[in-house]
Amino acid sequence: MDEIRKKRVAPMMERRFGMFIHWGLYAIPARASRSEWIRSVDKVSNEEYQLYFDIFNPTDYDPKKWAKLAKEAGMKYAVLTAKHHDGFCLFDSKLTDYKATNTPIGKDLVREYVEAFRAEGIMVGLYYSLLDWHHPDYPAFGDPHHPMRGNEAYKRQGEHFERYLEYMHGQIKELMTNYGKIDILWFDFHYNEMTGEKWEATKLIKMVREINPDVIIDDRIGGDIKVKEPVYYAGDFGSPEQMIPARGVCDYEGNSIPWETCMTLNDNWGYSSKDTNYKSAKNVIHMLVECASKGGNLILNVGPDARGVIPEKSVKILSEVGKWMDKNGESIYGCTISGLAKPEWGRITRNGKFFYLHIMDCNTDTLVVENFKYKVKAVTRLDDGSLISTADPWNRDSYEGEDLLFIHVPQFNTFDEIDTVIKIETM
Ligand code: GLC
Repeated sequence: MDEIRKKRVAPMMERRFGMFIHWGLYAIPARASRSEWIRSVDKVSNEEYQLYFDIFNPTDYDPKKWAKLAKEAGMKYAVLTAKHHDGFCLFDSKLTDYKATNTPIGKDLVREYVEAFRAEGIMVGLYYSLLDWHHPDYPAFGDPHHPMRGNEAYKRQGEHFERYLEYMHGQIKELMTNYGKIDILWFDFHYNEMTGEKWEATKLIKMVREINPDVIIDDRIGGDIKVKEPVYYAGDFGSPEQMIPARGVCDYEGNSIPWETCMTLNDNWGYSSKDTNYKSAKNVIHMLVECASKGGNLILNVGPDARGVIPEKSVKILSEVGKWMDKNGESIYGCTISGLAKPEWGRITRNGKFFYLHIMDCNTDTLVVENFKYKVKAVTRLDDGSLISTADPWNRDSYEGEDLLFIHVPQFNTFDEIDTVIKIETM
């Protein structure tokens, strides 16, 4: 990947931890699985889905609360679904009536989000679905995902995809011009022939970059960012979903490139009243550390309910994560691959001359860091600042020729069960 992209995406990458917010009409049916895909999964027609539009009234929506929660959790950027696959717009688009301002809530929900998150110093991102199951010119009959796929009535002889493109480009222009500087634009997604220039991607991204040259864009519009010189529209970072790749995301020559794993907190992106399969704070922290240790980010999802409230359980987990981040955030923000082998007791992250040992599984008084060729200035425990001894054992000469650093932690039974971080300052 070229240096221009790497430079552009750097402010997002050093932040490491973000909040993904999937919110829309699908919070009302709150399906047990694949919540925001309800229209596709259950083949719900526009007419059947209309009820949710008619009653959408999230009166408890208070994005200041969301932004506070994100901040408290240590999240430094956020991405909200301005429009998901169902085509419903949370923003006041001039190009459609299918928007929040025409529902009972009667407000531009994107504007309030953008303002609230910016006020907390959080980078602001918007998700925009390339797919649109509401627009009359989006392919329906032959499309693999459209709710009306295979439905004869939706063969739509007069269908004009170019009209959809004009609409889609126009909406992106609105999002880029009407809400101040948007930091991240998260397109979703390409499939089969619906990729790259089918979306008139070069034209689209040119327009976007003319308005905002620095906006960071994901890689889901099409094109391949793993090649040396990706096509113009290929995006700035890789976007693995629901998994952390073994070696992060690398180009075809094996060099790490910017990436972000997106992950649900339970099993759904959109709100699901029945889905209680939440990850624990420990799971989240371990994932975040793993991403950072592999040079990547974690964007963790919340699915606010139909009243506009982030589920209590999510709030609880994020608050717990925040407690850990308060003390240990230094080992995450701005940190990356350490260049040291992954130890059996945890992970290692690094920020320049500082190495951070994430001790997740310790059962012994002395831990060994292998192939450590640096001169050590000081070693401390991050959560209380206390000094950790690295004295060589009396029998050090039996490991002659090995670059070993001994970390003495006889107090390991007092360690944070989730992850105790030991900070090594080198010279
Ligand atoms: C997917 C899904 C979607 C979700 C997204 C998040 O591609 O279609 O519902 O928004 O991934 O990464």
